[in-house]
Amino acid sequence: GLMGYDPAFLNTANCKSAITFIDGDKGILEYRGYPIEQLAEKSSFIEVAYLLLNGELPTPKQLEEFNYLVTHHTYVHENIKAFMDGFRYDAHPMSMLSSTVAALSGFYPDAKNTKDERSRRIQMTRLIAKMPTIAAFSYRHSMGLPYVYPDNDLSYVGNFLAMIRKIGTTTYKVHPTLEKALDVLFILHADHEQNCSTTSVRTVGSSEVDPYSAVSAGISALYGPLHGGANEAVLRMLREIGHVSKVPDFIKAVKSGEGEKKLMGFGHRVYKSYDPRAKVIKRVADEVFEITGKNPLLEIALELEKIALQDEYFVKRKLYPNVDFYSGLIYEAMGFPVEMFPVLFAIPRTVGWVTQWEEMVKDPEQKIARPRQVYLGSTRRDYVPMAARK
Ligand code: CMC
Repeated sequence: GLMGYDPAFLNTANCKSAITFIDGDKGILEYRGYPIEQLAEKSSFIEVAYLLLNGELPTPKQLEEFNYLVTHHTYVHENIKAFMDGFRYDAHPMSMLSSTVAALSGFYPDAKNTKDERSRRIQMTRLIAKMPTIAAFSYRHSMGLPYVYPDNDLSYVGNFLAMIRKIGTTTYKVHPTLEKALDVLFILHADHEQNCSTTSVRTVGSSEVDPYSAVSAGISALYGPLHGGANEAVLRMLREIGHVSKVPDFIKAVKSGEGEKKLMGFGHRVYKSYDPRAKVIKRVADEVFEITGKNPLLEIALELEKIALQDEYFVKRKLYPNVDFYSGLIYEAMGFPVEMFPVLFAIPRTVGWVTQWEEMVKDPEQKIARPRQVYLGSTRRDYVPMAARK
């Protein structure tokens, strides 16, 4: 029969979903119907995680119970630590994260039971709770620092920052503004409907494999420079430009490069107007820079945005700053090395991945993902013996 040809799924819906709504022309993003701006201003990451997972905002008691669960499943098996030790000192933390999360499936064989709701929910809780621990361990490993165990009395974000920053036996006091800033960034990154990594999680999960394996595939997708690696690429780009005076030349090079050289942190498959997350991030950046001092690269970023938003090339193609354009500047000001940027994206996105994974598992219309192709190869021909080949 007739087959649709749609490379990169520009025009194909792969699922029905009730989680996240995006209107790319108007720049609207909603989780379960709630606008991202309201959630970023009024909610917390843990509350948003509950909302995404369960469809409704929690009551105080539900929030307390959920918060207890995700701050008390933070420990990983000691052999996971040994597993991570096996990486070279300079291994990228994203490659450590994706393989360590895949390794978790070997530690939780009950995760294979994807049809059982109770088991599913335990694995989902474990994934959300352990992601900051594994992320912090990957950072510690790359710095040659001893691992810091989770402190279950701290908040989700506070605990993560303590595992990153703590030196020796002194208690690490997390700056409340920085903790709040990272919490808001986590809200902004929690879900984004059928992006490349979420589609990977759904595709791999459609084989009914355990969620650790499926989420590991999502992390691998997020590692790429066109997706979660973009915030890292933005920082490298800003450093390469080096000074505001070089911005016009850089823009010129992007325009004449015929797609070879990109303005990283600009453009989006769905948003053809300003990314609503980028607006919130600009405000967070100001709050963080008040404490950490201005990131010297900010000036270059602002100039890039100013010129690009007025330039015909970018206007015609509807290229606006996306979430990654400013997030890297905040992460850097907070003291994270660029390699950690995609990791900081993966931690909150885990909530979206497991929510979307469960929605797929429960959907009676979902089958194993198996696209078709348009075959362009040779027609039938007979095998040629080795001696007869020229
Ligand atoms: N700089 C310069 N030109 C660009 C850019 C850019 N950042 N993005 C798109 N274009 C051009 C592209 O060359 C094409 O031009 P033409 O029509 O002359 O061939 C046109 O705009 C349309 O772009 P496209 O590549 O067809 O768009 P896409 O939907 O396939 O790609 C994208 C979307 C996000 C991969 C792309 O815009 C890009 O590579 N941006 C830079 C990387 C980036 O910031 N990624 C983060 C995305 S948001 C968060 C996330 O997903 O992690």
